[in-house]
Amino acid sequence: MEKITVVGSGYVGLVAAACLAELGHSVICVDNDLARVETLQGGGVPIHEQFLPELLARHRGTNLEFSSSLPEAVRSSSIIFIAVGTPPKENGEADLSYVESVAREIAQNINGYKVIIEKSTVPVYTSDWIRRVMHLTTGADCEFDVVSNPEFLREGTAVTDFLYPDRIVVGADSSRAAALISEVYAPLTTGKYYLSPDRIPEPDGSACAAALILTTAKSAELIKHASNAFLAMKISFINAVANICEEVGADIEQVSRGVGSDSRIGPRFLRAGIGYGGSCFPKDVSAFRAVAHECGYEFDLLDAVMDINEDQRLRFMKKIRTALWTLKGKKLGVLGLAFKGRTDDIRESPAIALIQQLLAEGACIRAFDPAAMERTAEIFNDRITFAEGPYEVAQDADALLILTDWEEFASLDLKHLRTLLKYPIILDGRNLYTPEEMEQNGLMYVSVGRKPSNLKQFAKVG
Ligand code: UDX
Ligand code: UDX
Repeated sequence: MEKITVVGSGYVGLVAAACLAELGHSVICVDNDLARVETLQGGGVPIHEQFLPELLARHRGTNLEFSSSLPEAVRSSSIIFIAVGTPPKENGEADLSYVESVAREIAQNINGYKVIIEKSTVPVYTSDWIRRVMHLTTGADCEFDVVSNPEFLREGTAVTDFLYPDRIVVGADSSRAAALISEVYAPLTTGKYYLSPDRIPEPDGSACAAALILTTAKSAELIKHASNAFLAMKISFINAVANICEEVGADIEQVSRGVGSDSRIGPRFLRAGIGYGGSCFPKDVSAFRAVAHECGYEFDLLDAVMDINEDQRLRFMKKIRTALWTLKGKKLGVLGLAFKGRTDDIRESPAIALIQQLLAEGACIRAFDPAAMERTAEIFNDRITFAEGPYEVAQDADALLILTDWEEFASLDLKHLRTLLKYPIILDGRNLYTPEEMEQNGLMYVSVGRKPSNLKQFAKVG
């Protein structure tokens, strides 16, 4: 059992802290947001994440503590994960000022050998910068190592992504640090955790010991950026293909099934839609682009990935205008606010960007999301209204828009929807239904990369 500090109790830090406690370590999770720390100490769960409430209830007060005092936490542990935010700056680079200030505070309180682990997504060279800040603050004689251990946690499945990872990447330039971090993850890499009767259930019914990939710190930093950029590229690629499907009358769902079943390509992250969002892909693709430029390489491919992503939303907006003609005064029902299903996170959500545009063009929005309404209300105040469920959203609406891929939006009673809507128009940015089932239920249906249904009636309404 190791004594571990995790700095930052956001989407990544809190999940990492809870999962490290689940692996048997003694963890202090530190945050400088006092209200958040109080919520956590008092038994609250500030983010929507499957299995997180269970893990917090299981470990809070025993091997998981919450604190706002970084100095105390640093002094009491030899392993310190940094999981504070690294938001994008105007020029696309990552803002590393939080990472720097945490590194400085660690340096000011160092009292023996420490391993400082970058968990936040950071550009290559950050480990060097952290080392420099540490040396400048402490003088030359303190003992520490800096390790890059990137997270590959998808919001919504972050707990199982942590506990059942495809791989664990540890970028360490010293064997002492590599050995210590390997020990932290040993319950996963030896498979011991998977024998525990009270483990969090494996997502697909099978678990095997996680692969540990040991690299240099720089390689690990690049693995993180390159992985996210590649996944974003896959999404932009399939979105571009979806646009060709629309032109030629093909079906993107068939095409992506056909393409994705080539084991060299794989079916995941090949779902066409209204573009990727969230706190990672948009920020990481532009940060990786900026890093490459700094290093003297123009990674133009990433410009195309970002352009296609932006264009995907604009194209959907155009579809809404085509379906409804004018937007001023139209009552639109919106299903989904989060950047994807199973999370309450609305950072860089395509749904939010579309709502902003719809409001700017005079539409009235009533929305429902199973988890993200509270966060959305904070940005829109009373400029949009909220409903208690999907059917209330549809009531008397001029059209229904599906903007987030929540599972519960994929099994609505279409006959009932038809009776509720003022006009039977559904615009689906996530392809949750087939055009055929919409047609059978008398609904006009516009989605991504597929032929619209009931276009003739659609023309009459338009
Ligand atoms: C993380 C990573 O930091 C980011 O690099 C990655 O790409 C996505 O995930 P996330 O956990 O989503 O970010 O961020 P957020 O939910 O904003 O949490 C960051 C937490 O750190 C906040 O609770 C904030 O209060 C805390 N923080 C920030 C500190 O404790 N100290 C600071 O100096 C700054
Ligand atoms: C991502 C990474 O997947 C994860 O490894 C970690 O580095 C953090 O960032 P996250 O942002 O939580 O995770 O969600 P993810 O599931 O990757 O989805 C990102 C965006 O892409 C969402 O807006 C989602 O709707 C979209 N997406 C995803 C698609 O449009 N099509 C797909 O096929 C998959």
